[in-house]
Amino acid sequence: MAHRITLIPGDGIGPEVSAAVVRIIEAAGVVVEWEEHHAGVRAVEQSGSTLPQALLDSVTANRVALKGPVTTPVGEGFTSVNVGLRKALDLYANLRPVSNLPGVPSRFQGVDMVIVRENTEDLYAGLENEIVPGVVAGLKIITATASERIARFAFRHAVDNGRRKITAIHKANIMKQADGLFLRSARMVAKEFPDVKYDEKIVDNACMQLVMRPEQFDVLLLPNLYGDIVSDLGAGLVGGLGVVPGANLGERSAVFEAVHGSAPDIAGLDVANPTALLLSALMMLRHIGERTPADVIFGAVSRVLAAGATLTRDLGGTASTTQYTDAVVGEIHAH
Ligand code: NAI
Ligand code: MG
Repeated sequence: MAHRITLIPGDGIGPEVSAAVVRIIEAAGVVVEWEEHHAGVRAVEQSGSTLPQALLDSVTANRVALKGPVTTPVGEGFTSVNVGLRKALDLYANLRPVSNLPGVPSRFQGVDMVIVRENTEDLYAGLENEIVPGVVAGLKIITATASERIARFAFRHAVDNGRRKITAIHKANIMKQADGLFLRSARMVAKEFPDVKYDEKIVDNACMQLVMRPEQFDVLLLPNLYGDIVSDLGAGLVGGLGVVPGANLGERSAVFEAVHGSAPDIAGLDVANPTALLLSALMMLRHIGERTPADVIFGAVSRVLAAGATLTRDLGGTASTTQYTDAVVGEIHAH
């Protein structure tokens, strides 16, 4: 049976890495009817909106999407399509596994953690106002409902995946009310899961500990902003943004995308690493029940990375996106 999946190629390196991933999924024999929709600048040209209703309808109907990165202008222009999409579809949980991959050069070995980021509120609510000239107030929204929901998601994820410890990350010494509520919610949920260890760390110390001894972390539970920042830090521990996948999950639908952005500095050069989006697509295949092809693809990627002869530039190699994709496809066919 063909799966119908929404495909949002994205901006910058998005079209290159998503084309590579589509090729690899097809090579593994998964039959997908891709419904392609654009977001951001590319969508405005066609529909007048950065987040067209047709895209939202497509994800809602298919319940699954694979998404490339979408550019958001800095300090001006339209609001983030990524934040808008997560809010519109109530994709409240952002799940980002951070682990070493065979053959990928990195500062650390033995890193195996999962970042669980609240995806709908915090300072990303986008409520900013210039109150008087020269004074801007940005509202940090933290609700008990969203905090408990993401904490419960993190604990359930731990139980379902044999993970042992949740570390809630906060700055409740300063933001006593907002981060205080996030922490109280996490502590309350922790009581429902006596078999999972629970501890807490202040975000600045957590960052230091992450770069000193990342192996001590298992599941990290964070509000939106810290989750965003710590995700890129986590990527840096295991080889960079080219290899870290992610999923935005809600009760009804799921959008799979890498942690990285549109990388305008290397867009169009056929040098981007498609591994991050590919591993996101493997999370997607498992989500829709295609475990065997996901395992086959993971095996092929692992062998190509471990062999080391066809690595992209970000991993110290010289292979192009196309050459790397060819190598992965070749490995799939060889087994
Ligand atoms: P970025 O993640 O696009 O790039 C940061 C650095 O990592 C760059 O040097 C880039 O070349 C490198 N990099 C990223 N992905 C790579 C890959 N797959 N292979 C090889 N190298 C890779 O972050 P930046 O430059 O801060 O943001 C660029 C744009 O992306 C901004 O408009 C931002 O808003 C957007 N963005 C979108 C996201 C999304 O759609 N989910 C997530 C993060 C940023
Ligand atoms: Mg980010």
